[in-house]
Amino acid sequence: MSEKITRREWLTGTTVLAGGLLFATGGRAQSVTVKGYTPTRENPIRFSSNENPYGITRSAREAMNNAYDVSHLYSGAGQRELREHIAGAEGISAKNISIGSGSKEFLKVLALITELEGGKVMAANPTYHDLVRYSGWVGTDIKWIDVRKDDMSVDLDAMRAAYTDDIKIIYLCNPNNPIPTIMHKDKLREFCIEMSKKCIVLVDEAYHEYVVDPNYESMIKLAVETDNLIVTRTASKIHGFAGIRVGFAFAKEGLLKLIRERVTGSVNTAAVHGALASYKDKEYIDFVLRKNTEALDIVYKLFDKHNVKYIKSNSNFVFFETGIDFSETKERFLKHGVNVGRPFPPFLTWARVSTSKPEDMEYFAEIYEKEFT
Ligand SMILES: Cc1ncc(COP(=O)(O)O)c(C=O)c1O
Repeated sequence: MSEKITRREWLTGTTVLAGGLLFATGGRAQSVTVKGYTPTRENPIRFSSNENPYGITRSAREAMNNAYDVSHLYSGAGQRELREHIAGAEGISAKNISIGSGSKEFLKVLALITELEGGKVMAANPTYHDLVRYSGWVGTDIKWIDVRKDDMSVDLDAMRAAYTDDIKIIYLCNPNNPIPTIMHKDKLREFCIEMSKKCIVLVDEAYHEYVVDPNYESMIKLAVETDNLIVTRTASKIHGFAGIRVGFAFAKEGLLKLIRERVTGSVNTAAVHGALASYKDKEYIDFVLRKNTEALDIVYKLFDKHNVKYIKSNSNFVFFETGIDFSETKERFLKHGVNVGRPFPPFLTWARVSTSKPEDMEYFAEIYEKEFT
């Protein structure tokens, strides 16, 4: 059998039957590779949420099954092992890592701390919404700094220039979302060192594993030795844990303690066991990365062929110009069962497409050509 079937099924522990059941039960992981499935407006392929279209690895599935033996115990059995594994991989101490129920838990707690302390948030415009949206809900003012005009990357110089003493946190997403650019490692490092003397700097590295730009560098090592600097990561993306919920925060112990004391949820034992297996499963990660590259290449080829302006990806999504209002873009795609990302002001004549399986990207390309060329 081809790699398309056997390797994928082996790695993820799913079967063709399971795929069929997913469809029959109205599951959302739709794909042209699912037998009998046709993309529709009501049941579209998700090119919208930057998920891993292959789901979780087989080893995570097995580890979660085995974790039921300890699931009657409180206090997150398995957390120490997971923290130690991640610490080993990053070359830091486990005491500088906190595990959360996804990384947005940390983003929201930091937004809450900012509001409780009576400060403002600074963020790039546009960027990922969770921290800033939550800040808006709890009544915090946000100082938006437009991305650069030339390459659409986060404008660190403009942020530095716009800083005022009432800013309590600067939220940086690296790579950014919805525009998958990175911040140059030297500029970012310099910025983090300087600005963390004035306020909390949060670097969200949700898409770290996908980065291809050699000018990128994780800020984890700096965060564990710098006051007021924190990095977040997630198992939701390349590990496929978006619905299972495991995220990480990396910082000095004092800041982690401040956050832990304010978190309202707790960590799921099965999820922690699954994450440990997944982070050890290099073969699976390589597989997902290879497929993501194939998927991106299909999109790049399509956009190059039609001279479409787009931002090359350091993630599992591409940002591209349609030249028409997003509501119209959404509709033209959706009527064919293609669900692309939401509107990202101020770029309302652009759209974000998340990668799916290469077979689905071919379908996306077909619909793009039908509707936009
Ligand atoms: C930049 C960024 N950070 C955080 C998250 C949320 O991650 P989690 O599922 O770990 O809460 C997302 C999800 O799309 C994201 O794009």
